This record gives sequence, structure tokens and C-alpha cells, in this order.
Amino acid sequence: MNSGGFIQENFSIFQASHEGSWAILAILFLVAYFLFRGGKSKAGTIIHMIARLFFVIMLVTGASMLIAYQFAYFFFIKGLLAVLLIGFMEAALGKAKRNENSLGMLFAVLVVLVVIVLMGYGIIRF
Ligand code: HEM
Repeated sequence: MNSGGFIQENFSIFQASHEGSWAILAILFLVAYFLFRGGKSKAGTIIHMIARLFFVIMLVTGASMLIAYQFAYFFFIKGLLAVLLIGFMEAALGKAKRNENSLGMLFAVLVVLVVIVLMGYGIIRF
């Protein structure tokens, strides 16, 4: 089994899926969040489930590229932040659904999301 070869050969597929999915995830998150905030729990739950599918897409495609980049420090940090982001998104949606104060978590999601996207496009670099 040569998984390195597989990832190298399909790198552009992972990259295109990653780049094409992040904005969809961001929109799904916001729609689910405001559905929950508006008391539309059932519709919110459906969108939340679709958002979770996009968590998996982002994790699998991102982790594949990270392996291809041999865990380069910068992208490793970006990946860690992305895992944190997914945790914040889950926390914000859970709080919104339970009608708890969720504004702080929403703010955390937006800040970390902006940082990750700027890192992805190389605007923030180190
Ligand atoms: C859900 C949160 C995530 C968001 C919003 C996000 C966003 C982005 C964006 C906008 C790019 C630039 C796309 C491009 O030019 O191709 C990118 C690239 C990248 N991401 Fe993510 N990402 C997320 C999750 C992850 C995770 C979990 C990992 C790793 C485990 C990861 C690893 C990478 C790598 C290695 C690249 C560089 C690809 C390249 O060379 O273009 N990302 N990400």
C-alpha cells in the first residue's frame, strides 16, 4: 500500500474540494446558527447535520494535504486552528439550540475562521 503516492497523485482533487467547501461550510454554519436563534430547531438540526458532513470533508481533504506537505509547521498550526474552529462551531450551535448565551462563541468562530482563511490564502504567513 502506497498512500503517499495516492495523496500526491490526487493532490489537486483534495485542494479543489478543500477550497470549494470552506465557504459552503461557513454559510451552513451561519444558517444553522440563526435558525436555532430564531427558534427553528428542526430546520436548524437538518442544516447542522449537513454542516457536519462538511466538517468531515474539510478534515479529510485538509489532513491529506497536510500529509502531502509532510506536516509543514505552518499548515500544521492552520490544521490545529481548524479543529479548534470546528469545536467552536459545535459549541456555538449547541448553545444557540439550547437558547443559552451564544454570542461569545459566535464571535470566536468568526475570528478563528477569518484567521484560518487568511492563512489558507497566504495573507497571514510565518
Ligand atoms: C474547517 C475549517 C477549514 C477552513 C475554513 C480552511 C480553509 C482553507 C483555505 C481557504 C485554504 C486555501 C485554499 C487554497 O488556496 O487551495 C486552505 C488550504 C489548506 N488547508 Fe485548510 N481549512 C480548514 C480545515 C483544514 C484542516 C482541518 C487542515 C489539516 C488537517 C487543513 C489544511 C490545509 C492545508 C495543508 C492547506 C494548503 C493547501 C494548498 O497548498 O493550497 N485545513 N484551507
